[in-house]
Amino acid sequence: MNSGPKVPDLRTFLEDYEERNPADVVRITRPIKSRYETTVIAAQLEQMRRTPVLIFENVVNDDGRPFKYPLLSFLCASRERMAYAVGADPKHLASFCAERKQRRIKPQVVSREAAPVKEVVKKGDEVDLLEFPVPVFHSKEPGPYITAGFITCYQREGGTDNSSIQRGWISGRNEIRFWLAPGTHNYNILREHEENGEDMPMAIWIGHHPAVIAGMNFGNEYGRSHYETAGGFIGQPLSLVPSETLGESFLVPSHAEIVIEGVHKCGLRKPEGPFGEFPRTLGEQRFNPVMEVTAVTHRRNPYWYGLVCGHVHWLTALLREAEAFERVGKSVAGLANVYAPMSGCGQLTLYLQIHKRSEGEGKAALLPALGIRQVKHAFVFDDDVNIFDETEVLWAMATRVQADKDVLIVTNCLGTALDPSSLGMGYLTKMGIDCTRPLPRSKFAEFLSIPRAVIESTPVSNYISQEKLEKVPVDPFCASISSRKEDPEAGDVTCIGCGCAFPVNSEFTRLAKSYVHCPRCGKEFSIFGKSL
Ligand SMILES: Cc1cc2nc3c(=O)[nH]c(=O)nc-3n(C[C@H](O)[C@H](O)[C@H](O)COP(=O)(O)O)c2cc1C
Repeated sequence: MNSGPKVPDLRTFLEDYEERNPADVVRITRPIKSRYETTVIAAQLEQMRRTPVLIFENVVNDDGRPFKYPLLSFLCASRERMAYAVGADPKHLASFCAERKQRRIKPQVVSREAAPVKEVVKKGDEVDLLEFPVPVFHSKEPGPYITAGFITCYQREGGTDNSSIQRGWISGRNEIRFWLAPGTHNYNILREHEENGEDMPMAIWIGHHPAVIAGMNFGNEYGRSHYETAGGFIGQPLSLVPSETLGESFLVPSHAEIVIEGVHKCGLRKPEGPFGEFPRTLGEQRFNPVMEVTAVTHRRNPYWYGLVCGHVHWLTALLREAEAFERVGKSVAGLANVYAPMSGCGQLTLYLQIHKRSEGEGKAALLPALGIRQVKHAFVFDDDVNIFDETEVLWAMATRVQADKDVLIVTNCLGTALDPSSLGMGYLTKMGIDCTRPLPRSKFAEFLSIPRAVIESTPVSNYISQEKLEKVPVDPFCASISSRKEDPEAGDVTCIGCGCAFPVNSEFTRLAKSYVHCPRCGKEFSIFGKSL
């Protein structure tokens, strides 16, 4: 984990990251409205494939009145930055996070004096959530939304903490209406309280080191502490501090930027939404639980972190990739990598890459991947396909798939209710496509190749000047897959006599021969392995 100074929090991260990557932190000082305008900036940058940390230093409300505090955005919008934060390679986050998720470290409790989040404490009538620069992200949303807040609750029995990112509409100075999807652990905790006729104490905390955010976001089996998972991600105990109004045993992160404390009154529901959801579509309005806020504590000049839902962020992708890496790895030993691309909104689509050793392993990989509830489509590729390049992915799909044999369809499956094509039911059809070549690989058409020495000795710059090249128009329809990893067997033939592999060099074509000649045993045979 890269954090700079000792206690990892948002500020230590920003300080370290900005020093090393000054161009990737952008401070916007010009006044900008919290309603829609900050989303417009993020969306334009996203279109340009630029995802810097954004710090809006001068956010104003609808009347042009400035908010006191800065708004931070896009913190988790870059895969490379997330990898930097946790100390991993951006192309191997799946295996890294799967391993880190298991490495659990118990949190430690610090005094209020040692907790920066207690620098400012507001209770009762002093609470005013409307003082924070919380964006209204999209049309038809009813107001400002908390999008990167972790809702922390404690299990009624056993007292284990649970924290997960769950959105909340700030519907007044001290009221938040929030949505807990059925099946999430906070939903279970809420139900346990309500079934016993009890109110549920809860906190929402905002802003921390991205490694803490990533680790905390990892779901566990019900009853396992998320604070411990976050500790595993940062490699040290997470610092916690007692709440102000929910009792000494209700612990919250001491180095967060902001903590909101409150209570959900048993049985209370109010309309919440619509809200811009992760598939980039507007989600429906529902009757949802309500938090009555009892206290707000924060650092001096806190950052409000507003994650732009429905736009690029990698939090969910890391979750799905690690989950698939664990599950698929149990049934396919040659699993090489997993990627949840943004074209599938970080979770609806998974690309798996395997080193296939037995026929049928493609489908054996697809089945556990589709078992992940939120995954709707899974594709499995050989390990010569770069799964991070979607042109290459589509090329493999086009050239290695026979639909009658390679497509797997599972109807009437429980998926995510937020998939707009499930028509709000979450009851949907899943599909897996095996894009691997049949075995043995040597029998499958080889990828076009040219002798490596010729490639290396023929750079385009030797023939077309840089100046001329830069003036040649870029063709928006051109797609190249020639950057793909070279098949180690490409250019070789296997002798049908002694079985050795040898390269077919220029001599073969120069002499315009119709056969090859094994340098080892002398056998002559056609280049496709037929006896003459
Ligand atoms: C940006 C973002 C927003 C989310 N919003 C919600 C939400 O409003 N409600 C919800 O139930 N889950 C939401 N989730 C998904 C939960 O965080 C996720 O299902 C989590 O794994 C639940 O963990 P748990 O069941 O272990 O507590 C969101 C996730 C992200 C990354």
